[in-house]
Amino acid sequence: MIHVAELIQRKRDGGELADEEMAELVHGYGRGEIPDYQLAAFCMAVFFRGLTPRETFALCDAMVRSGERLDLASAIGRKVVDKHSTGGVGDKASLAIGPLVAACGVPFGKMSGRGLGHTGGTLDKLEAIPGFRIELTDEEFVRQIREIGVAIIGQTANLVPADKGLYALRDVTATVDQVSLIAASIMSKKIAAGAQAVVLDVKVGDGAFMKTLDAARELAEAMRALGERAGLEVVCELTDMDQPLGAAVGNALEVREALATLRGEGPPDFTELVLESAGHLLALSDLGVDHDEGRRRAEAAIAEGSAVASYERWIRAQGGDPDEAVLPTAPVVRDVQAEADGFVGALSAVRVGLAALHLGAGRQAKGDEIDHSVGVVCRAKRGDRVAAGDVLAEIHARDDASAATAAAEVAAAYELADEPPRPRPIVLETIA
Ligand code: URA
Repeated sequence: MIHVAELIQRKRDGGELADEEMAELVHGYGRGEIPDYQLAAFCMAVFFRGLTPRETFALCDAMVRSGERLDLASAIGRKVVDKHSTGGVGDKASLAIGPLVAACGVPFGKMSGRGLGHTGGTLDKLEAIPGFRIELTDEEFVRQIREIGVAIIGQTANLVPADKGLYALRDVTATVDQVSLIAASIMSKKIAAGAQAVVLDVKVGDGAFMKTLDAARELAEAMRALGERAGLEVVCELTDMDQPLGAAVGNALEVREALATLRGEGPPDFTELVLESAGHLLALSDLGVDHDEGRRRAEAAIAEGSAVASYERWIRAQGGDPDEAVLPTAPVVRDVQAEADGFVGALSAVRVGLAALHLGAGRQAKGDEIDHSVGVVCRAKRGDRVAAGDVLAEIHARDDASAATAAAEVAAAYELADEPPRPRPIVLETIA
């Protein structure tokens, strides 16, 4: 029997816990033997003291062992790849990258989450597609990856159950934004979901968990170390989240933009991120190509139309209708115009994300219904020259009142400047 108060005290005083002690905390909490207040105190001690790499791995490993662990390589007989983003505004990358790498002959299997606060979630975006099923059994998930080449589903109930409880506790005790806890939470789910290689997109900026490049680098290194100790190959990209990714923010709007990108008609920053990530995933796969060749193949799949065909096969396989005409559209569309001539000096991702959330694209409280049709389309991005009266953004809303509120919020997200800002690439750094 462990003495939880002693473990809390040791962590509070900067000491290290043994592997079995970390495991016992996770499993004891899962069994209901350790109360919320003790685990909350432990999380707060970790928030201030951090975890050593060894403790972080012990935590991650115990979380993986709290549920089932899929082995997609054995089930499919091929190396399967996956991707994950730490969360941002307008991040619809999985919707394009999954079918794109499948079009290049690489199996892609991913379990996704829902939106958190002002950041969107892949599952919510997929549910904008009429008929799309996010719940597949393990057998259906494996079969679809084998037959169609791509499946993206919600986490199955028995995948890292320890994270569900721990995450909910962290959420209400101000202990979410701690590097080791985030790394163990994300990587336990990646390891258990069964792919052999993963590209991690660590967002940096005002719309992300990590506000600085140094903090993002620390999280990326921690996640890479956890993946590699568990036998998972990991490439990390640190990418810009000071402004929304692409133009569209909001569920159906983002599905349309992902599809346009697979047709070769996507916004430049989003297209670049999709191609870079696909290049890395192909290089990690069993195709035996390097990143540059992987990227060329991804470009060719878009140019030849096989990327769109792969998207359509995937959506149909999960019960959805891939025709974009069936996606919901908002009844009110209102422009936000520039008040003066100038350059877009900054476009706050968090402000646009919050405007979309208030329109109904996300949840303000657990269990809120999402309106898949609403959101914001940023027509002007950082560095663009605009004249007074030009359209900066479109608001897609369910009524005039919410459109007016969002228009004011989005107008405040734009900062106009006399000079263009220093260009900033979408991929700031890659750790391979
Ligand atoms: N996403 C997760 O899955 N876990 C965290 O702790 C933070 C973001």
